[in-house]
Amino acid sequence: MKKAVYSDYVESAEFIRKKITEAGMKMPRIAIILGSGLGDYANRLERPVVIPYRDIPHFPVSTVSYQKGELVCGLRGDVPVLAMNGRFHYYEGYEMWQTAYPVGVFKLLGIEKLIITNAAGGISPSYKPGDLVAIVDHIKLSPDSPVRGQNIPEFGERFFDMQSVYDKGLVALAKQKAGELGFELKEGVYGYMAGPQYETPAEIRMLGMLGATVVGMSTVAEVIFAAQCKIPVLCISCVSNMAAGITGAAITEEEVLETGKVVSHRFTELVDALVAAI
Ligand code: HPA
Repeated sequence: MKKAVYSDYVESAEFIRKKITEAGMKMPRIAIILGSGLGDYANRLERPVVIPYRDIPHFPVSTVSYQKGELVCGLRGDVPVLAMNGRFHYYEGYEMWQTAYPVGVFKLLGIEKLIITNAAGGISPSYKPGDLVAIVDHIKLSPDSPVRGQNIPEFGERFFDMQSVYDKGLVALAKQKAGELGFELKEGVYGYMAGPQYETPAEIRMLGMLGATVVGMSTVAEVIFAAQCKIPVLCISCVSNMAAGITGAAITEEEVLETGKVVSHRFTELVDALVAAI
């Protein structure tokens, strides 16, 4: 599929901006991408403006059955938040640039902070299912990139730095807020695998040796495009299961989704505290 051009992003953004302002809502400066099992957050937004992806010009449409495909702009307290309920994964068959497409749209909408969540397998034996982990770095072994191909200069440089996209200030703030809420937010390095199959034990041993502490099939494309667009990111992984070979237990999608549901309350409290503080 042909890569999107700048005017596509502009058309998507203008459509969304019109929907939000017509509803009398202030434009949000924080966006949040909701991962598997964590979509409930979107239902908690007040005065929601719901925009199905299929209505937005040039926007990809989600195919994962349990994930909704809609943008929800609404209030938490008096702060407007733009939430993506349902995200795009490479394993669904999208091009990598498509999976990161919303980030360019966020940039044009004036989003200044991006919170990304996901479900991930725990590699570090210091984690257990249900833990929340702030991602401080990532490893992507697959060669594709969301910004491969013709560069769109309006979004940033062809070659750009990746050292500060996982914003240290946001990680510190999130850890502090988690502490105030009575739980520990751990830190970790996200190992990206394209999926959709879960990993083999040998692959997990390899990722662990390389320094990854969790593994997942999302997030890095959005983070890379956010780095180009200079949008600081806070990424929080929910450890939904221990990765292959760590405990020997089989990994199932049910377990992944179930753990998300169990921690969604804690997660919502943390995001609320962050939204209020940012
Ligand atoms: N591996 C990859 N992705 C995942 C996992 C896993 O173990 N759990 C949740 N997403």
